[in-house]
Amino acid sequence: MQNQKSGFLVLGINGSPRQNGNSQYLMSCFMEEMKAKGYDTQVLDAVKLKINPCIGCGNCETKGVCIFKDDFTDVFLPAIIKADIIVVSSPVYFYAFPAALKALIDRIQVLWSRKYRLKMDQFKDRRRKGVLLAVGATSGKDLFDGMKLTARYFFDAADIQYKADLCYRGIDEKGKMENHPTLHEDIKNLAREL
Ligand SMILES: Cc1cc2nc3c(=O)[nH]c(=O)nc-3n(C[C@H](O)[C@H](O)[C@H](O)COP(=O)(O)O)c2cc1C
Repeated sequence: MQNQKSGFLVLGINGSPRQNGNSQYLMSCFMEEMKAKGYDTQVLDAVKLKINPCIGCGNCETKGVCIFKDDFTDVFLPAIIKADIIVVSSPVYFYAFPAALKALIDRIQVLWSRKYRLKMDQFKDRRRKGVLLAVGATSGKDLFDGMKLTARYFFDAADIQYKADLCYRGIDEKGKMENHPTLHEDIKNLAREL
């Protein structure tokens, strides 16, 4: 039988440079749930993409395109334009996203420029949704505030509605997320919201 939801893409962006760590585990649980719902999935690792950092030249603000040609323009941009749900999974690094993921987010300035400077309506009639999954070692109330704010404006530039997040404190050593008592229930509840 033809899958009803095939063609509906869930794009995952892994922010951690640590392979098989906590945020990658979170991502894999979320993607399993999405596959079970019949969605197509694709996951990109920020650290494996060759991304030039944005240099603020302003080319995208007048021409709607970036001066660089790299994995952002050839791999990431086409994927994020195609995706229906975008999920970012990342550890906290100094109360922010790790550098490779932040470099990728900064390059989204090209979509910000198309939307706010050039008034292009690239995602007309599409209701794209964004999710943030995050882990951090400590337990402070403000631990995820910086990442949530960055994720909100990253999603907004790409016309993605910030739909939900799951953030786990006190998660440090590799493997710690795998024994989390509420994770699977949390993921199921999150998937129901989307
Ligand atoms: C460079 C670096 C910076 C970090 N900064 C923070 C921080 O500001 N706050 C915090 O709670 N944990 C911090 N951590 C801990 C990680 O968020 C934590 O170990 C997380 O579980 C790693 O997730 P991963 O396995 O997906 O890489 C930092 C870790 C590294 C390596």
